Amino acid sequence: MDIITIRLSDNKLIMLDQRKLPGEISYYTAKTKEQVFYAIKEMVVRGAPLIGVTAAYGMYISYLNGDKLQVTADYLAKARPTAVNLTWAIDKMMTAYYEERDLLDQAKAIHQEDVDTNFAIGNYLIKLLGSKRNILTHCNAGILATTKYGTATSPFYIGKEMGINYKVYADETRPRLQGASLTAFELMEYGIDVTVITDNMAAHFMSKGLIEAVITGCDRVAANGDVANKIGTLNVSIIAKYYNIPMYIATPTSTIDMSLESGKLIPIEEREPWEVTSRFGKQTTPDGVKVLNPAFDITPANNITAIVTEKGVIYPPFTKNLRELFLIDSD
Ligand code: MRU
Repeated sequence: MDIITIRLSDNKLIMLDQRKLPGEISYYTAKTKEQVFYAIKEMVVRGAPLIGVTAAYGMYISYLNGDKLQVTADYLAKARPTAVNLTWAIDKMMTAYYEERDLLDQAKAIHQEDVDTNFAIGNYLIKLLGSKRNILTHCNAGILATTKYGTATSPFYIGKEMGINYKVYADETRPRLQGASLTAFELMEYGIDVTVITDNMAAHFMSKGLIEAVITGCDRVAANGDVANKIGTLNVSIIAKYYNIPMYIATPTSTIDMSLESGKLIPIEEREPWEVTSRFGKQTTPDGVKVLNPAFDITPANNITAIVTEKGVIYPPFTKNLRELFLIDSD
């Protein structure tokens, strides 16, 4: 099956319902801003770049419905707090609106930019990995988190077309299991060698020398190179550093938030306790137990080997090199 995460058809937004994967292929249709908000908040769609593309089309649909666009912008921006791509895409749509440009063209441009960006990231990562073939990833920063290739998974897809076959270890990624149910699903659909491990197995396999590099996506990069990504990424980064395994963050520049000095300022989403207290339709904890459920954590810049963007590979010192990237960009 060719995975298509999102498409606009007859001014309706059709999204692959990721809550049902891998068992069921079904689609959620949004015709209103409320339905778009629901799709993002309840994780019908998820992953930073895809959240951005969804919001862009959502703004367009809302415009067609005759809504006040600034109201929609403020409303959709509250759907999820951590991935900056949400407000990045909404701001781009608002700029197009105020400049009286075509909103559909702008939404399609954001969509196409995602495809081109991920292709570029994949090529940079293939070069960086060199002869390394055994790669661990956490959460899902794949096709399902984007519209094509994924960010962290892009070298696997592009590599396969070039005859390079990676062996991917996918962390299960509690509590929502994006690694087990999404990353494993999409890689298998495209014939890529994937092995699921539970989150607490990563150190074991790193200690045995089975993992040569870690690649994850991210939801927001601060100006100093601190990175917010799925809860558990911090653990992986600490273990990788201990075993001298390179830790690469694959990200579009739209995920870099130069307005935040450090990761301490990145808002971390706290999700519902049920994600932790039950699984597979069964309660797994005692009634009334206290629960904490942050959806993301912050990996400090000094645990990161390189940040791989569509504009190139950024190495430490990140504060200096990120600033330079954005200065060059605004020239
Ligand atoms: O809560 P999710 O599933 O939206 O979290 C997704 C991640 O943490 C991804 O790694 C990140 O958004 C990058 S996607 C290319």
